[in-house]
Amino acid sequence: MGHAEPQAQAAEMAATMQPYWMPFSPNKEFKAEPRMFARAKGMYFYTPEGQEVIDASAGLFCVAAGHCREEIAQAVYEQLQTLDFTAPFLRAHPKAFELAERVSHYTPEGLNRIFFTNSGSEAVDTAMKMALGYHRIKGQSQRQMFVSRERAYHGVNMGGVALAGMVNNRRTFGLGLAGVHHMRHTALPQNKFAKGQPEHGADLAEDLLRFCNLYGGENIAAVFVEPTAGSFGCLPPPKGYLNRLREICDQQGILLVFDEVITGWGRMGANFGAQAFGVTPDLLTMAKAITNGAQPMGAVAARQDIYDTITEAGPAKGVEFFHGYTYSAHPASCAAGLAMMDIFAKERLIERAAAMSPKFIEAVHALQDCAVVTDIRSVGMMAAVDVAVDGVPGARGHEAQKRLYDAGLNLKSTGDALIIAPPLVCEDKHLDEIITKMRAVLKGL
Ligand SMILES: Cc1ncc(COP(=O)(O)O)c(C=O)c1O
Repeated sequence: MGHAEPQAQAAEMAATMQPYWMPFSPNKEFKAEPRMFARAKGMYFYTPEGQEVIDASAGLFCVAAGHCREEIAQAVYEQLQTLDFTAPFLRAHPKAFELAERVSHYTPEGLNRIFFTNSGSEAVDTAMKMALGYHRIKGQSQRQMFVSRERAYHGVNMGGVALAGMVNNRRTFGLGLAGVHHMRHTALPQNKFAKGQPEHGADLAEDLLRFCNLYGGENIAAVFVEPTAGSFGCLPPPKGYLNRLREICDQQGILLVFDEVITGWGRMGANFGAQAFGVTPDLLTMAKAITNGAQPMGAVAARQDIYDTITEAGPAKGVEFFHGYTYSAHPASCAAGLAMMDIFAKERLIERAAAMSPKFIEAVHALQDCAVVTDIRSVGMMAAVDVAVDGVPGARGHEAQKRLYDAGLNLKSTGDALIIAPPLVCEDKHLDEIITKMRAVLKGL
């Protein structure tokens, strides 16, 4: 049998790639010029051709413990042979309770009731429903509005899209939910190249008060913020900003929700952003690193009295909260989550992130000397490097992530921001490799 010509092979491959509609990706460009991964281990991905690519974004902020952890794979395998599935409605399995209990040791004090979902997007919409349900039982069903922020990302379900503050994620999908108002974002020119929490911008929290004065604070159900905006490109909260939001929420009876899908599980150098920044929300969403990204899972941690209020208001033997997913607390996800809880405890991953953070921040900020870099923001084990706009906004950032892949480095880019958030098992030598590769690509952009 003769060898197919390379051109014919490429055409055949391009044809077989067509049916997969890729999410959040330039389908046409990717299928013409694919950049794939075939396997991964520890800090590295490997392309189908075998090239090693260091993972500078923990996959997508998921893989805190490094790729392909055998403990997790084994736990999932055993679970699928023991109990592959049970309906989560009216039935349950022991690992769901065990995982919720383990998670509640990490969440901020008082947020010890855990509702499982399959993603961050589902966690966000779940938290919105909890807020509405809670207020209704409290006799405040007029609280139907939500407040969030420009440059926020809260997933892609309709609730989360309405909360989101990123134009491309909203513009196609119509009006979304009525009654969602966006505070201004906190990226200020005075804070350029700030390390950690910036000095300026606490006053931007007063936007919430303006909405209270404009619409009536008694009509607002909840405020959603990422303690550090992640997907947009690492916007740490100005000093005092989250505290002020908390104060206004308390005064107005509004629930404060931290969307910690990225900032949770050590990324900020503490269990959650709540603990890192010393502000406790009423509801907290999480996903990603809860299973090390090995199985889909998200969760909402709720204040105990929110759970009590909702469950006690229900009938003695009836459903109290009409919400849930077929795969809520899926046995395989719970098994992965429990194995990950063991890794967090045994390897002290969160303490390790806290210890590594100052070195990480210094290393990333050293990239300031690349001419193309216009800002760097950083906190915990997350940073973003902005590159100067070249023609169309986002074009240079897009080009950068492709060149970085080709140079052996994987990261998440959003527009012209290159986001660095390596697995928390990152060592000095990995950090050196990340910075060296980034410097080489940035100098050539
Ligand atoms: C803050 C935040 N909320 C929600 C989501 C959505 O999570 P998922 O993609 O798992 O639905 C993300 C995803 O990155 C996120 O960063």
